[in-house]
Amino acid sequence: MSSYVCANCGFESNKWIGKCPACNEWNSFKEVSRIIGKKNSKSISQNISLTKLAISPISEIVVDSEARIKTGINEFDCVLGGGIVPGMVILLGGEPGTGKSTLMLQLAKMLSLKDKKILYVSGEESSQQIKIRSDRLNTNSENILLMCCNQIEQIEPTVKEHAPDLLIVDSIQSVYSSVIDSYQGSVTQLRECSNYLTKLAKNNNIPTIIIGHVTKDGVVAGPKTIEHMVDTVLYFESDKSGFHKILRTSKNRFGSTNEIGIFEMTSNGLNEAPNPSMTFISTNEMRSGDVISCISEGSRNFFIEIQALLNDTNYGNAQRVAVGYEQKKLAMILAVIEKNTGIPLGNNDVFINIIGGLKIKDSAIDLAVVASIFSGFSDIALSKNSVFIGEVGLNGEVRTASNINSRINESLKLGFKEVVLSKNSNIDSKFKNKVKMIKDISELFKLYF
Ligand code: TYD
Ligand code: MG
Repeated sequence: MSSYVCANCGFESNKWIGKCPACNEWNSFKEVSRIIGKKNSKSISQNISLTKLAISPISEIVVDSEARIKTGINEFDCVLGGGIVPGMVILLGGEPGTGKSTLMLQLAKMLSLKDKKILYVSGEESSQQIKIRSDRLNTNSENILLMCCNQIEQIEPTVKEHAPDLLIVDSIQSVYSSVIDSYQGSVTQLRECSNYLTKLAKNNNIPTIIIGHVTKDGVVAGPKTIEHMVDTVLYFESDKSGFHKILRTSKNRFGSTNEIGIFEMTSNGLNEAPNPSMTFISTNEMRSGDVISCISEGSRNFFIEIQALLNDTNYGNAQRVAVGYEQKKLAMILAVIEKNTGIPLGNNDVFINIIGGLKIKDSAIDLAVVASIFSGFSDIALSKNSVFIGEVGLNGEVRTASNINSRINESLKLGFKEVVLSKNSNIDSKFKNKVKMIKDISELFKLYF
């Protein structure tokens, strides 16, 4: 029996349709054969062999915390929550050209130095191409086994024969299963192949990393459909300059999902950022409109620089543009400033930019955004030694941020002299004379401008 599946979004139909009702794509329906149970088979309950499964009280299950494999790439381990867990399946998504293959080859090298065997299955590049990259990265090792193939069923015999400690599949879009009658890279193939790899990983207890491409416009028709099958989903992104690469967790059954790892792409491959928390702070002089804040991502804090530019509006409506900060949040902040301080911003274009191309969700940067608007408006530059942390409410009140003590601690450790935060923050007494506590944004204005 066959059915028709949209190659673009995976919508299924019993008959061929010209235009997909789900994603509006034309001519995207392909015939696939459906695997169904044998005719006249007995009812399911009669088919299942009723072997007794071992059960045990949860209190008696022992977890081997040492079992995690440390890869030796700290930023990678940190993002995974402390290393690779046996049998774990990781999906590594990212746009073509971000450096996924490079990262995996370097990971393979680090593990090979620890006498681990790695099976690198590539469906995208020939062994020569990988060898050239490997020479460039200096990752030649007997422990890295290379297999160039596209048919997924060929992986299992190799895994059985060589028993690798890690399996890497580059990429899920380039492999196909001969069981499914659908073309390589289609949604049905992606699902089938991921299913196959997940089973292989769980049955043999081999950690597996699956690389998946994400298209430029962020439509993740491919990897999104398989996210639920894997244990951990990582996304690898470039910042605007392309120099910094950010590794992010979007799902993790074995750790926190807020972790980020930062790498730099050099001519010899990816290096871990030497001082990740300061990566996004420029060394330039502070000018009016520049403010530093501290965001908390997972177990780490990062410092970011916010810029505001205020111009007189020349053409009709005032422009309000935020890059890296939520547009609606900016409109709200401007309204709060006008209401609570009386500063007229109606005839100003306001542009907010987060340096380094980061998109910030942490609301603790509100205070820094307000400070940068004040600074841009009054044309007074702030000191490079101050960090502004806090959320701003609709009445102009400054609210405390999460993990405030760790943020203060990190700020002082990195040489900042003063942290400006909410009066209601519950801070350690040892930080008392290093912080400036304020009630609301008009107090901020009086203090600094
Ligand atoms: P690659 O790992 O092939 O990306 P992906 O697998 O995600 O598609 O890396 C692609 C980019 O990285 C490519 O534009 C070249 C650059 N690169 C370097 O700058 N230095 C290096 O040492 C290597 C290997 C790649
Ligand atoms: Mg690649």
